[in-house]
Amino acid sequence: MRPEEPRPEADLATLTAAAMQKGPRALFAADPDRFTRFSARHGDLLLDFSKTAIDAEILRALLDLARSRSLEARRDAMFAGAPINATEGRAVLHVALRGEPKDGYRADGNPVSGAVEDVLKAMTAFAERIRTGELRGATDRNITDIVNIGIGGSDLGPAMATLALAPYHDGPRTHFVSNVDGAHIADTLAKLDPETTLVIVASKTFTTIETMTNAATAREWLVGALGEYAVGAHFAAVSTALDKVAEFGIAEDRVFGFWDWVGGRYSLWSAIGLPLMLAIGSARFREFLAGGRDIDQHFRTAPLEANLPVLLGLIGYWHRALCHYPTRAIIPYDQRLARFPAYLQQLDMESNGKRVGLDGEPVPISGPVVWGEPGTNGQHAFFQLLHQGTDVVPVEFLVGALAHEPASMRIHQDLLLANCLAQSEALMRGRDLAEARQQLLDAGKSPAEAEAIAPHRVFAGNRPSLTILYPLLDPAMLGRLIALYEHRVFVEAQLFGINAFDQWGVELGKELANRLVPVVTGEATAEGRDGSTAGLVDAIRKIRGN
Ligand code: F6P
Repeated sequence: MRPEEPRPEADLATLTAAAMQKGPRALFAADPDRFTRFSARHGDLLLDFSKTAIDAEILRALLDLARSRSLEARRDAMFAGAPINATEGRAVLHVALRGEPKDGYRADGNPVSGAVEDVLKAMTAFAERIRTGELRGATDRNITDIVNIGIGGSDLGPAMATLALAPYHDGPRTHFVSNVDGAHIADTLAKLDPETTLVIVASKTFTTIETMTNAATAREWLVGALGEYAVGAHFAAVSTALDKVAEFGIAEDRVFGFWDWVGGRYSLWSAIGLPLMLAIGSARFREFLAGGRDIDQHFRTAPLEANLPVLLGLIGYWHRALCHYPTRAIIPYDQRLARFPAYLQQLDMESNGKRVGLDGEPVPISGPVVWGEPGTNGQHAFFQLLHQGTDVVPVEFLVGALAHEPASMRIHQDLLLANCLAQSEALMRGRDLAEARQQLLDAGKSPAEAEAIAPHRVFAGNRPSLTILYPLLDPAMLGRLIALYEHRVFVEAQLFGINAFDQWGVELGKELANRLVPVVTGEATAEGRDGSTAGLVDAIRKIRGN
């Protein structure tokens, strides 16, 4: 078979076995210029995947596989607003939230850019009036603090993004309450003054029990301090369920809508981004949207071979489905991206953690477990396992070449970059027994001591990683990074054959929790429950005395 001919899927497994045997170390030894071939750029965003075991044949086979699974047609269907979320009969059009009118986005045939722009304008007017102090609290004091009450996609996006863009904050402080654990809202409100606080209730459905419970508690806190009359001036809402918001009693001009073609985990670009807009201002928020759009255009038009989300998706799929790595670690060497791994956990695992494919038949494999923490912190915690554990974990490093901090602090960024590069180098290079032994002898150990200790100091190496390098984490770059990962998840979903846009797997736990509330409160018995649940209920009741 000539190398340029499409390779059948079975071949991919054979090629993979050989590549894993070789590993990136040998591939670099054979081809020192590998970085040029196995890295890709879009503008000032660089994806280096040369430190994986991928080779040209595998990449070609993966591209063929993507084409055979209609990646381009499915992508075009998404951008065209076709109802590709088949189990919910919905279009998937979060890209329209960051589009320009000329993009002509339509959901199920109906133009959407006018409605998107209207909401953006309403958000802008509201946010800017709060930021300038024109819109004040019930006692005429300026709003200094925003509490966003939401969970999942109504929390993780704005919480992650406001932290990421801290250097651009020039508006009120933002706080995020998500957990139904009363500790979360109690600890948050304890620091705040009701007279200067605005509460945003963010929920796509406006039925989520955690959010509704926290919203009711926040309302009581406000009413307790200022009286019922103050609610109007201190609450706003973001939702697709405008009727339910009205029932809650939030004035219409403080309600910002979005649409059922925006999935919760893709909703940061919608009015769910209101806390971010309040923190950084509407102009910066538009820069953030433009960053997302930039990646959309790239994803839509760049050849698959040079398409960053496609390449990231192909490698992710390959690591999971062919190399059988069960997890991947997201390690931003950028402290302000501390919540990015948590954000990606929802984006990726709620999208691609499915047991059946689009046809309802079981899939052989679904998306990986996604986890992570910022570097360098992770180095002093779980990196031991990454380097020497028996499981191989592909690592995705994200790092900015530049920092926002003043030149006098340059050493911090130098150390951060050196550490990031050192980790990917160490993962690939490793250290063999002879080298470990020699190091010990050089350090003055006896031959017997060196022999005994050397095995503990061996690093197998050949552990895969990829690096995403960008100049500076500014609003547009944050938008690019998020959109890059969104489309990566989409690409992987096509390869897995999964619908990335529903989340039925969250339902059962919610249903059972509702049924267990009366059991916990003592209004119902635990009869009929499994022995463990009944035993735990009994123990809880004894502790609580009910
Ligand atoms: O339970 C999962 C989920 O439905 C997520 O998909 C969603 O982002 C989150 O709950 C919050 O939902 P809502 O915005 O409707 O409150």
